[in-house]
Amino acid sequence: MSGLHGCNCLVTGASRGLGAEIARGLWTAGCNLLLVARNGLALESLISSLPSRADQRAVALKADLGDPAAPERVVARARELFPTLDVLVNNAAIQGPVGPSWENSWDGWQSTIQVDLLAPVALCRLVVPWMAGRGRGKIINLSGGGGTSPRPNFSAYAAAKTALVRFSETLAVETRELGIEVNCIAPGAMSTAMQESIVASGPSMAGQKEYETAQRVLREGSTALEKAAALCVLLASPESDGISGRLISAVWDPWERLPEQLDQLRESDVYTLRRIVPNDRGLDW
Ligand SMILES: NC(=O)c1ccc[n+]([C@@H]2O[C@H](COP(=O)([O-])OP(=O)(O)OC[C@H]3O[C@@H](n4cnc5c(N)ncnc54)[C@H](OP(=O)(O)O)[C@@H]3O)[C@@H](O)[C@H]2O)c1
Repeated sequence: MSGLHGCNCLVTGASRGLGAEIARGLWTAGCNLLLVARNGLALESLISSLPSRADQRAVALKADLGDPAAPERVVARARELFPTLDVLVNNAAIQGPVGPSWENSWDGWQSTIQVDLLAPVALCRLVVPWMAGRGRGKIINLSGGGGTSPRPNFSAYAAAKTALVRFSETLAVETRELGIEVNCIAPGAMSTAMQESIVASGPSMAGQKEYETAQRVLREGSTALEKAAALCVLLASPESDGISGRLISAVWDPWERLPEQLDQLRESDVYTLRRIVPNDRGLDW
């Protein structure tokens, strides 16, 4: 991937799963990395597995994004390390409580909103003025199941991820004149700890369909993970310039050719969250 060499990137949730794959992809593209998660040892181990490059650096930062004070600490560390920030990837998330919303632990519901919505928004608020100073920046927020349709038994997660998409669309408009582009990725079901936690919840809490899908995804392996990481690298790179305010599916959308469709994309609401009206469904009322 061209154009990313020497770029400075902040990636949350890089200790495993998709975040680790994104970190590897950005490293391969020549980026410097600040990697954030609670498991500092896993971050260090990922960093030591990266092929050594004399002109790049990767740094681990142990932080709990469930702590409302953490985003400020994370960005303060990024400012110590990097003179400028090119890319923020808000990937860290938790599944949150599983089961009917009225039976969920309220603490669990609130901490899901903290980690999956408030922390990414706080990080965006902190990096936008920094990126704006240079007139350039890319923000990539990870959406997820429930972002575009109801997801029974995962209400906190679904609500946080939907709100993150609407926030990203809004921020994309607010930052249009600042040279900052903001997009979301729907990575699709990936074989990670998140799917393991669905299986561990069991069919009675997660629902039979979710349970069986998670089992299948864990059996089938990592194609979706690699596709989502590749889409993230594209959205971080100058090759995606002009694409902003979109929710792009790593699995279902023809995103490899998206830079060729820029004019039509800019003029349309393709890949955005909108309300369906009767006419959209062939109804005449
Ligand atoms: N897996 C799927 O099927 C799927 C589908 C759609 C969307 N997504 C989205 O894709 C992204 C990556 O998911 P994944 O499957 O790779 O999840 P994962 O394997 O569970 O990894 C989540 C990452 O977030 C970090 N994290 C969780 N809570 C944190 C906290 N309080 N503070 C800091 N870091 C925290 C974890 O690190 P520590 O535990 O070390 O803190 C880990 O690195 C998420 O945004 C998820 O919602 C996943």
